[in-house]
Amino acid sequence: MEVINRYITIKNHVEGAPQDSDFELRSSPLLLSLEPGSDEVIVKNIYVSIDPGQLNRMKSYSSSQDCSTFAVAMTPGEDIDAYGVGKVVVSGNPKFGKGDIVAGFLNWGGFTVVKPGGMYITIKNHVDGAPQDSDFELRSSPLSLSLDPASHEVIVKNLYVSIDPYQLNRMKSYSSSQQRSNYAVAITPGEDIDTYAVGKVVASGNPKFVKGDLVAGLLKWGDFTVVKPGGMLNKLDPMGFPLSYHVGILGFSGLTAYAGFFEICKPKKGEKVFVSAALGSVGNLVGQFAKALGCYVVGSAGSKEKVALLKEKLGFDGAFNYREETDLKLTLQRYFPDGIDIYFDNVGGDMQEAAVSNMNINGRIAVCGVISEYTDREKRGAPSMIDVIYKRLKIQGFLAGDHMNLFGDFLSTTCDHLRSGKIQPLEDISDGVESIPSALINLFRGQNIGKKIVRIAEE
Ligand SMILES: NC(=O)c1ccc[n+]([C@@H]2O[C@H](COP(=O)([O-])OP(=O)(O)OC[C@H]3O[C@@H](n4cnc5c(N)ncnc54)[C@H](OP(=O)(O)O)[C@@H]3O)[C@@H](O)[C@H]2O)c1
Repeated sequence: MEVINRYITIKNHVEGAPQDSDFELRSSPLLLSLEPGSDEVIVKNIYVSIDPGQLNRMKSYSSSQDCSTFAVAMTPGEDIDAYGVGKVVVSGNPKFGKGDIVAGFLNWGGFTVVKPGGMYITIKNHVDGAPQDSDFELRSSPLSLSLDPASHEVIVKNLYVSIDPYQLNRMKSYSSSQQRSNYAVAITPGEDIDTYAVGKVVASGNPKFVKGDLVAGLLKWGDFTVVKPGGMLNKLDPMGFPLSYHVGILGFSGLTAYAGFFEICKPKKGEKVFVSAALGSVGNLVGQFAKALGCYVVGSAGSKEKVALLKEKLGFDGAFNYREETDLKLTLQRYFPDGIDIYFDNVGGDMQEAAVSNMNINGRIAVCGVISEYTDREKRGAPSMIDVIYKRLKIQGFLAGDHMNLFGDFLSTTCDHLRSGKIQPLEDISDGVESIPSALINLFRGQNIGKKIVRIAEE
């Protein structure tokens, strides 16, 4: 059924006292049906609020327009939203049914079409082995870009989101990691998935943020995030670097490499460093930090192409494809005839055992991650404890989030290295919310080169 929707708009900006001649009653046909799959809700407006503050929105400029989501500037000819009460006449959104009485931001008009709030990724079920496409679902939900003034929420348009191996441990029906860190809590099937990301504020009920601010923090694997009070969100100064860098090399991956290498391993110039998953997000940076310090650095990776990049592009002293090696202990002996001083462990399993057996006395091992064990419940590294004792090895697990005190040092050092060309950024970017599942799946197949990021939208 088609109805005629009548609504009020302004003909021009209104600078003084409003007059009848500033306004226009317009009408447009509105089909009271939705495309299949649409999440829109059509509301028949019943009561709408009339408030003096609307006049400031009608001005060509008012400082109030930049200070609150409820006060954004109006464009002549466009709908005017206001707090109102209405009745749902058509709903493509499972949260609302026809006949529901609703309150929210509606138009100064007969009907309001509330648009969906974008797509997001969730899991359909817990994921206990290697992740598959069938474990994920692309969903959409409506989002009003208007906020309740008391909510203190911030609505962020997500731009670049991080893809990280630890998300798989959050997806499992059980992993001890889920109880150990606020960032690693279990993900419930059907719910949003949060991640480190960069975005732009589109609406703010929080006085610390205004529309247009660039921000970094815990956002959603989706188009938009409604950040609740207390959520991790900070203003972002890109410092002249691409926004994507702030998700990877200048974000948590970078901090992980920096804190793990400098704080946990306490390296000295000339020491011999081995790093696994060396062309991954964290690994490539550890190797580059180590080279910048003047260490001898060897990395392992899962393909010939990666080995070539490590040596030719990143300047590693040596690199090998662990998939082609039959005895990892002998392989490491070949690359480290004088032993390893520092092992930065990203993979666990056999590689951890082989590294321990090649460590020098007083060697340090930073256990950053054990990715080879994430998809296989039974797999465990079982390094020789006799070696650990008699070589007086220090083996330490760590979480980047515990080293936020180093963020300032990390950022200035890494920015300097980037500007001087001492360190190269290595990014692997795919596009669109729908590419998130394959981006995660491919981490466990070794198909990323450097930091895996999904670009949700251009700035
Ligand atoms: N402690 C912390 O705070 C913290 C923070 C971030 C990351 N991490 C950990 O650090 C490690 C690296 O993370 P990232 O974000 O930098 O990921 P990444 O290295 O960019 O991607 C994962 C890489 O791991 C390798 N891999 C996958 N399955 C493997 C297996 N079965 N055996 C050996 N290698 C395998 C693959 O490269 P190949 O081609 O080499 O196989 C893949 O590209 C992970 O274990 C992660 O959990 C820890």
